[in-house]
Amino acid sequence: MVHARKLSIYVTRAVPEDALAFLRSQPDVGLVTVNPLERPLTPSELRAALAPHDGALVLLTDRIDAGVLEAAPRLRALGCVSVGTDNVDLEAARSHGVSVANTPDVLTDATADFAFALLLAASRRLVEADALVRAGKFPPWAPLFHLGLDLTGRTLGLVGAGRIGQAVERRARGFGLRVLYWARSTKPGLDAVGARRVELDELLRESDFVSLHVALTPETRHLIDARRLALMKPTAVLVNTARGAVVDEAALVAALRAGKLAAAGLDVFEDEPRLAPGLAELGNVVLAPHVASATHGTRSAMALLAARGCLAALRGEKPATWVPGSAWPPRAVS
Ligand code: GLV
Repeated sequence: MVHARKLSIYVTRAVPEDALAFLRSQPDVGLVTVNPLERPLTPSELRAALAPHDGALVLLTDRIDAGVLEAAPRLRALGCVSVGTDNVDLEAARSHGVSVANTPDVLTDATADFAFALLLAASRRLVEADALVRAGKFPPWAPLFHLGLDLTGRTLGLVGAGRIGQAVERRARGFGLRVLYWARSTKPGLDAVGARRVELDELLRESDFVSLHVALTPETRHLIDARRLALMKPTAVLVNTARGAVVDEAALVAALRAGKLAAAGLDVFEDEPRLAPGLAELGNVVLAPHVASATHGTRSAMALLAARGCLAALRGEKPATWVPGSAWPPRAVS
């Protein structure tokens, strides 16, 4: 599509350079502006920043609500540098004629790797072990020292079995884990390798490890609440690389503190970057600052895919990564 006026794109935080170079190399892109601050924009800064642009690359730390969209009359396309789009009010995007694209696939392996890293770290108390050695508390080898959990022959429950859940299953096979999954529909690829689809409560009762891989929606908010945590084995480990609010974090702290759950590995939190009171004081949790997709290659691929999605929509071409619920086609050029 030929535009009389060149496109102007805002990027709400520094992203890997190749995505910016890609945007700047496009003949129909006139201006690429990157937030120069080393922090996310505040809501009012975000409103002002997006207002004059046709498109934007946004992050999961940017709350894109009706107010932001109302303040940006030219905005027609967003590229979310994330697979999760719970930070965007998709209904408001649709009513404002704003197309949204995200970054599926490219972060699947990095995220599944990190889910497994958390599972192993929590099960084998890796962070505690590191701290002991650094503190000079390296006792003579002893049969009863620093015991953790076995994986081989145990059961992993996947809550959500989309791309990332299925990638975790592939890793689980290598560790000799039996896999249960909970998903809206049967996944023939998982069934073919012996994984079994079960109801959520059964999965929680039977699993030794539970890994969360659902998007955050009104239906999945606090999916893992006090009642469901109580169904889990006291020897079980919970891993969350999805979204913090899928778990009732206060209930999780209470369960971990009371020994109703052995351990947790968490990359995401309900109110990032704040943690639920008491969480950081627990010895049986491994905590990471939302970095499951943070590898050099994956973050470059995410930024590039988000840039391509945003640009395609601005050109009137529906992105393969278009997010259902957002606008298509985007509103006309004003
Ligand atoms: C990260 O959490 C993402 O949604 O990509």
